[in-house]
Amino acid sequence: MIRFNLKLVLLLLCAAVVIVTLSLWTRCGEVVLANRGRKNSGQAAEWDTGNKKLPNGQDTYGGEVVEHGGNSDLQGYEEIECNINGEHSIGCRKEGGEIYLPFSFLQKYFEVYGKLATYDGYERFEWSHSYSKVYYPKGKYDPRGVFMYFENYNVEVRDRVKCVSATEGVPVSTQWESQGYYYPTQIAQFGLSHYSKNLTEPEPRRTVLEDAESDLLAHWVVPNGAALSRILDPRTGSHVVQFSSPDSVTSGISLKLDHVLDFVLSLNFVFTINSSFTVVLQSREKRDQIFHLHYICSDLLISAQDQYVYHGIGHCEHTQPWRRLTRDLVVDLHKGLAYQNKPKRKLSRSKLKVVGLTFRGSGQLDNLTLSTSEHLSQFYDAAQWLVLHQDASTGGWPNPVRRRVAPGMADLEPGWYSAMGQGHALSVLARAYHHSGGDTSYLHSALAGLRPFEVASSAGGVLARFLGHIPWYEEYPTQPASFVLNGFIYALLGLYDLGVVAPSASQQATQLFRQGMVSLKQLLLLYDTGSGTTYDLRHFMLGIAPNLARWDYHATHVNQLLLLATIDHDPLLTATAERWIGYMSGKKAPHN
Ligand SMILES: *[C@@H]1O[C@H](CO)[C@@H](O)[C@H](O)[C@H]1NC(C)=O
Ligand SMILES: *[C@@H]1O[C@H](CO)[C@@H](O)[C@H](O)[C@H]1NC(C)=O
Ligand SMILES: *[C@@H]1O[C@H](CO)[C@@H](O)[C@H](O)[C@H]1NC(C)=O
Repeated sequence: MIRFNLKLVLLLLCAAVVIVTLSLWTRCGEVVLANRGRKNSGQAAEWDTGNKKLPNGQDTYGGEVVEHGGNSDLQGYEEIECNINGEHSIGCRKEGGEIYLPFSFLQKYFEVYGKLATYDGYERFEWSHSYSKVYYPKGKYDPRGVFMYFENYNVEVRDRVKCVSATEGVPVSTQWESQGYYYPTQIAQFGLSHYSKNLTEPEPRRTVLEDAESDLLAHWVVPNGAALSRILDPRTGSHVVQFSSPDSVTSGISLKLDHVLDFVLSLNFVFTINSSFTVVLQSREKRDQIFHLHYICSDLLISAQDQYVYHGIGHCEHTQPWRRLTRDLVVDLHKGLAYQNKPKRKLSRSKLKVVGLTFRGSGQLDNLTLSTSEHLSQFYDAAQWLVLHQDASTGGWPNPVRRRVAPGMADLEPGWYSAMGQGHALSVLARAYHHSGGDTSYLHSALAGLRPFEVASSAGGVLARFLGHIPWYEEYPTQPASFVLNGFIYALLGLYDLGVVAPSASQQATQLFRQGMVSLKQLLLLYDTGSGTTYDLRHFMLGIAPNLARWDYHATHVNQLLLLATIDHDPLLTATAERWIGYMSGKKAPHN
């Protein structure tokens, strides 16, 4: 959205008049001065609700300062004071019977958005009520398909993602704790976005740099004292590269490359202790700008200094099973720069190339590939993380941070479960179970993940009851309950997904889904303010002001209802969604 400059708006108003005289321009400047108190006309002026004192002791908005009246000009408009609800005084324009207010005022007062746009060679002013987007489902929701509209999500590039862990292959959040932590909801969203992108994006380009099956070996540079051979690996029955190099950071076996556009590196590997590899990236514009991405056998999450970025791939041991690593090199570079608070703008995908790869220490590797994307590998990294990090006794995925939802509600202590996190996890695991052709590790994890839905939020689960009766799955299992709407619907989607993908094994999921849909229809209209929606029911629970959903959350409510309406034809869902869409362009419920 574009911030409006008062002067610009006034100029726009001036321009509406056929002939603009020099004296009028001067006058515009004076109005800005008079209204802005101390601010000079050259500054970007923002409308300000503050009752600032002017040097002469008068209030800016007290009605004393604004000069108006008697400035009739040839075009027939004059300046006039606008008194707004007896609280503010601003400079307006009067033209015949019409009054014009500066948009910068309207923007803040009504929280609307506007910008000047030029197309077809002519300029116009565009006003919009909300900044968010409605996604109309293309067909009936399918739990084997795209999740909501998550193909548009790019979880790992968000600022609140510290990095993608090279040990786990999943994002690490800094949203509520700056040192970084694994946030199950975010990890599931990462998985769901990659699964959805796999279904919607064009086929990736893949370049196999080494698979030990062909003569690619010839390209390796093997320094004195290092060794490289192709062997048959008994564990996989496939040919792999075995390498070793002397203990020195400067040596190692390396590949010289000149690879553009495809920056997702993947490989299978087994390393001995203290081995590592490095990818060298170069700017295509400034050839002396070179970055080294080091992947080292360590528990380090991320570290960076100047052009060197380090990600830990965890402990390495030659007796370990084969591991697969998938890295988006550009994301890794950007996170390394962000780690040092350096800008990344000039280093987009199109401005970089991969110029080298070096392996140090010793070990085996195979299927070394550079691709446009490896969405399914990243999806399975998320699914695998969920299987490995579930609390076996409760079936929950713990959130390891303290969280304050609202004053008046007890803080959530580290270890709490979220119905949204549980539901998203079910959506990931249901898809992994389906896509893997029935790998039961995903199904068992998903079934265990249902347990917190049956346990009261006061007893460590996620189940609350509205007025003691109506069951609700809590995104934040607070005391008293908060009844967050969007997290509840995400939980419903997860339950639905599991019920559809594994119908006989998960009747419990279907049952929980049906029960939740009944609750949703009972409580849905409590969130409707007649001009928007509330995020939760804290106003009812705590006797305080409602927590109005900002437009992107409101749009999420709408998108969720539209999606649910494809699997449940109750007219309440569509009628409510339609009305809520109207609120996004300023419509309101009728009044008496
Ligand atoms: C999606 O996954 C399939 C394997 O199920 C793969 O063949 C295809 O290339 C992938 N497409 C994209 C865009 O990731
Ligand atoms: C691995 O590196 C650590 C730290 O540099 C060192 O203390 C250790 O001796 C190394 N281990 C081996 C087996 O080389
Ligand atoms: C490399 O990929 C091939 C084809 O997918 C697979 O059969 C082989 O097992 C992989 N190598 C390793 C070491 O996992």
